[in-house]
Amino acid sequence: MSTQVAPPSAVSTRLTREQKDLFRAFLNVHWLRPEAALMKYHDARALQQFTIRHPSLEITCGDGTTSFVTAGGRFDLDFDVYQSVGHIDRYFESRRDDAYDPPDVYDHDEPISVSIARRPDWAYTTGMDLLAASIEKARALDFYRELIVHDCNNPLPLPDNSYETVWTSSPYFMPEVDLLLSEVQRVLRPGGDFLARMPSPKMVEMLPYNLYLKHGWEWVLPIDRGLYEVATRVPSQRAYWDSALERAGLAIERVVPILPARVYQLYAIGFRPMFPAFMEMYRRLSRDDWRAVKRAWMDNVALLAEPFCDPSWMGETEDDAVFYLYQARKK
Ligand SMILES: C[S@@+](CC[C@H](N)C(=O)[O-])C[C@H]1O[C@@H](n2cnc3c(N)ncnc32)[C@H](O)[C@@H]1O
Repeated sequence: MSTQVAPPSAVSTRLTREQKDLFRAFLNVHWLRPEAALMKYHDARALQQFTIRHPSLEITCGDGTTSFVTAGGRFDLDFDVYQSVGHIDRYFESRRDDAYDPPDVYDHDEPISVSIARRPDWAYTTGMDLLAASIEKARALDFYRELIVHDCNNPLPLPDNSYETVWTSSPYFMPEVDLLLSEVQRVLRPGGDFLARMPSPKMVEMLPYNLYLKHGWEWVLPIDRGLYEVATRVPSQRAYWDSALERAGLAIERVVPILPARVYQLYAIGFRPMFPAFMEMYRRLSRDDWRAVKRAWMDNVALLAEPFCDPSWMGETEDDAVFYLYQARKK
């Protein structure tokens, strides 16, 4: 590790009220997967260092809840992302060959009910994602002015020079990433910013699947659930992203290393294998019992997770960060 600061011995008291509130807001949405809440908290903290100018476009917006919370929105206790999930019986399937993609549990389109405690301070003009089910969930938030279902391996169905900011958390999922970057350049106004989260080599390094590769330990497989397969499909060198952006006509303004490796290590193990069992509990509880369990659960998880919201003892140096947050400007 690159830092000498000691880890907190008990619950961190170093977090500000705003930091606690931000983590709690993500935990409320992802309470059965606290490790996902932690990742989103770190992403949000990083993104909040940048100004989103409008008109703005979010590519790979998913169900929109992450940006809703990042922009200052808060949901009530009754809301979470598990209202509409499916394919739980196929949860442990993973990619076996190039033609097979296991189903995404969130790619399921039962209607959801949204209970909002506070509207966000700002909103994206346009949200875009491949999954129609996610876009329908985003629509229910009434957060994006316009939502588009689109596979971003193809040209964007948007006019030239139309956005001041384009943000994406996941451009690296696109096999046609060069096409995506040149399309982003096209739709940005001159002087407009592209903000994007790109993986560093640390991502693959932190995955438990490495233990399977090294020792043949099969107990790792249900924990991995195909994560390694996805992560190794993705370019992860800083030099690769630097030149891909330059090639697309986007001048790099700033690169911020984000997400301490320890947090990603937690994410890669987390409560992942327990998810089907947690969903069984979720479905069977009466509404009143559900609320009581959720409250107690979140209080307990906060105790364990809050120290991992505090990057001061984990470091967020380039060597230790799992992602780079790029700001690149259209010339
Ligand atoms: C890890 S999720 C992130 C969602 C959201 N940005 C967040 O942070 O909560 C990645 C998103 O990328 C979307 N995605 C994957 N491939 C895509 C493609 N070819 N075109 C558009 N969206 C895609 C997925 O549907 C998913 O919503």
